[in-house]
Amino acid sequence: MKNPINHPIHEALSARQSPYAFDPERKVSTDDLNSLFEAARWTMSSYNAQPWRYIVGVRGSDDGVWKQLFDVLLEENQVWAKNAPVLALGLVEHNFEHNGEPNKAAVHDLGAASASLTFEATVRGIAVHQMIGIDPEKACEMFGLNESIEPFTGLAIGYVDASDKTDTERVRKSSKDFILHGHTDVDWSKTDKS
Ligand SMILES: Cc1cc2nc3c(=O)[nH]c(=O)nc-3n(C[C@H](O)[C@H](O)[C@H](O)COP(=O)(O)O)c2cc1C
Repeated sequence: MKNPINHPIHEALSARQSPYAFDPERKVSTDDLNSLFEAARWTMSSYNAQPWRYIVGVRGSDDGVWKQLFDVLLEENQVWAKNAPVLALGLVEHNFEHNGEPNKAAVHDLGAASASLTFEATVRGIAVHQMIGIDPEKACEMFGLNESIEPFTGLAIGYVDASDKTDTERVRKSSKDFILHGHTDVDWSKTDKS
């Protein structure tokens, strides 16, 4: 897999990927699953509002949530996510609980929580593939959600199918393309000492 790292980063970051090939036979243990959502729980958030919400479906569980979540995915994601032993839906609570005012960081903080969950998964050898390709209206209807809660992303969680040999080229912008002003290559001898 082509995955050039320009500067050293922690393996929790470099080893992460969003696979399409999940091993349908390998379950995620309850302990691991609990730790993934514990990682989400400890994420920083604006005003500590913790506006992320999740719906979690484990395939084979008699609550039927996995199938409900599968039905919420768009077809192009169903094609591969069908093998994920766990599906989740990430949702945002758009309003602050204490005053009902809009929380403009809500979506940002859901992203952060899902990132925490994903890196916790990575260090456990578990993969997470997020999906914007969901039907939010269907999810609202299916789970009877409040108006202030918006379904945002699907998450397929499981182990990569080791027999899959697909080599996906992974492409990234240069950091120079997203650091708009200033730079990281500091020459400390030339900086202001005051
Ligand atoms: C919020 C979000 C939504 C995404 N939606 C989809 C999706 O609907 N379908 C899909 O196949 N991949 C989806 N992806 C995966 C991205 O395509 C993937 O993260 C990107 O190509 C980089 O690859 P990597 O995660 O393996 O580094 C999504 C990723 C994120 C973070």
